[in-house]
Amino acid sequence: MRHFIDLCDWSSEDLREILNLALTLKDEWRSGGNRPILQGKALAMIFQKPSLRTRISFEMAMQHLGGHALYIAPDEIGLGKRESVGDVARVLSGYVQGIMARVFAHRDVIDLARYASVPVINGLSDASHPCQALADILTIRERFGRTDGLRIAFVGDGNNVAASLMEAAAHFGIHFTIATPPGYELPEIEVDRAAQIAEKNGVKIEMMHDRMEAVRGADVIYTDTWVSMGQEAETAKRVEVFKAYQVNDELVALAAPDAIVLHCLPAHRGQEITDSVADGEHSAIFQQAENRLHAQKAVLVTLMG
Ligand code: CP
Ligand code: NVA
Repeated sequence: MRHFIDLCDWSSEDLREILNLALTLKDEWRSGGNRPILQGKALAMIFQKPSLRTRISFEMAMQHLGGHALYIAPDEIGLGKRESVGDVARVLSGYVQGIMARVFAHRDVIDLARYASVPVINGLSDASHPCQALADILTIRERFGRTDGLRIAFVGDGNNVAASLMEAAAHFGIHFTIATPPGYELPEIEVDRAAQIAEKNGVKIEMMHDRMEAVRGADVIYTDTWVSMGQEAETAKRVEVFKAYQVNDELVALAAPDAIVLHCLPAHRGQEITDSVADGEHSAIFQQAENRLHAQKAVLVTLMG
């Protein structure tokens, strides 16, 4: 049994297979619907944080595949408070065939996987967001017809989304450059781990502070919120620190002429991204959001099919 906690737990070959499956399932869905591959199967979805995309895309993915999804709201089961994470995992394993969890502490999703006897999917933790990164790669692959040799520039916070995107880029042969303010870099241990994967696939990871240097000639510009869920108390400070890291028209003009702009959403328009970029000709953010559905179907079928 396998879990989907972090992309570095998977081989580049396996992830390429999952991506191909996502493309197949998307085609199949668009030409009339998916086969009921997950008929009679249920996915429990534990949320410690709010969600639009993750919740609805997983729920619809299960429905399209003939299965069922159960939404468990923040505070409902009191993960690790009302009951230990291990007990929640063991109880749920008796009822459902898969668990998706959106948590604060990454440790909690690891512990769910440790104690569950069904597959566990990380639907975002403070450390990573692998389902998002897979949908991002799907979008890049659709837009460029390939991934190998492309260049991604991430501008902003070295957060969970950036960490998974870096790993995904490494697996799919994409050069990854990140520009952050000093003190907001990706954790060194995660960079080192991804760098080993990148090296095998003939690409590099670069960290810098200059957003213009990062973006020059890039095929993909990516940004995310400056204030992730759980960091709300730091909002004023972060908005001040990050204000020079906005993705605006001047920045996008430095990228390749056919560059695309991605954002995992929700966007804070006027902060990390301007309206003009989010709604402009380079933006692929809504295709990217839709692709959560298709990428996650491939994950669900791989783990639970
Ligand atoms: N991108 C993403 O995970 O969105 P939600 O927080 O709405 O699920
Ligand atoms: N980095 C953001 C992503 C939201 C999908 C957060 O963790 O809040």
